[in-house]
Amino acid sequence: MQTLTLNNKKQIPVLGLGTWRSDKAKVSQVVEKAVLEDGYRHLDCASIYGNEKEIGVALSKILSSGKISRGELFVTSKLWNTEHHPDNVEPACRETLADLQLEYLDLYLVHWGIAFVHGEKLEPIDDDGMVKTEAVSMKETWQAMESLVDKGLVKSIGVANFTVPMIVDLLSYAKVKPVVNQIEIHPYNNQKDLIDYCHKMDIQVTAYSPLGSSGDQNDKPLNNSVVIDIAKAHDKTPAQILIRWAIQRDLIVIPKSTDSSRILENISVEDFSLSKQEMDKINKINKNHRFVDPIEWWGIPYFK
Ligand code: A2P
Repeated sequence: MQTLTLNNKKQIPVLGLGTWRSDKAKVSQVVEKAVLEDGYRHLDCASIYGNEKEIGVALSKILSSGKISRGELFVTSKLWNTEHHPDNVEPACRETLADLQLEYLDLYLVHWGIAFVHGEKLEPIDDDGMVKTEAVSMKETWQAMESLVDKGLVKSIGVANFTVPMIVDLLSYAKVKPVVNQIEIHPYNNQKDLIDYCHKMDIQVTAYSPLGSSGDQNDKPLNNSVVIDIAKAHDKTPAQILIRWAIQRDLIVIPKSTDSSRILENISVEDFSLSKQEMDKINKINKNHRFVDPIEWWGIPYFK
């Protein structure tokens, strides 16, 4: 499996298995098969996905099988927004480690650049429908993230859903630089400027929802005629074209699936490449459209 080098010299496999919305009842078996049979070495998890315990069962089986060592796997998780206070960061990380049955994470991300009130609900919403925020600066949270590296609980730290101004600010005080910014990327939201900025700052970028996410939106990049035509020309599927397009942009990409044939399909992208003309054609179908916008959940215009 191809890897990219992080700014701390560690390697990250370019393709990982996404687990957002992976059904608890299925995910254990799915992860076990993806790693042991299909060759996945990178798992993208988060405490808010509510399935880390089930993934931990799979990880325990995989590692005790003796077929794969811990060092061959790359496991990411994410700090939820209610846990940003420095007193809560290490307990949250330890809970994730216990759920995943691991002694360390390869990568721990601040899931969103916004602190929610701690201790009520995972998404505490006020009477007007807006999320309740807490007065905790990212600087305080980041310093607590840095101490997780010092303690050996995590190998690398990074962020998710960060915009350029958030990264500029973070870099002004970070003693440990974020290695990754994980953001929504697919041809309808190609994020060129943010990716260019992150790469200039030596921060790798992970594409989440690379297939246009789940949900029943009709107009998905998987159904785009440009993508479909290129897929036909290579005798590949539209999903494989979207994954290949991300890899050729020097991105890390984490398609989610719990379907065994799609999981294999999504990792089978190393035997072809897209030409410059094909890359350019896909680059042109951008329309800055997000499938994941927290305005719908938290009533807050996070990306505005
Ligand atoms: P499923 O889990 O049933 O396979 P994203 O990674 O952008 O969040 O997209 C995930 C969505 O895309 C899920 O609904 C997933 O469904 C579906 N999906 C995953 N792989 C493929 C594929 N190869 N072809 C079509 N749809 C896919």
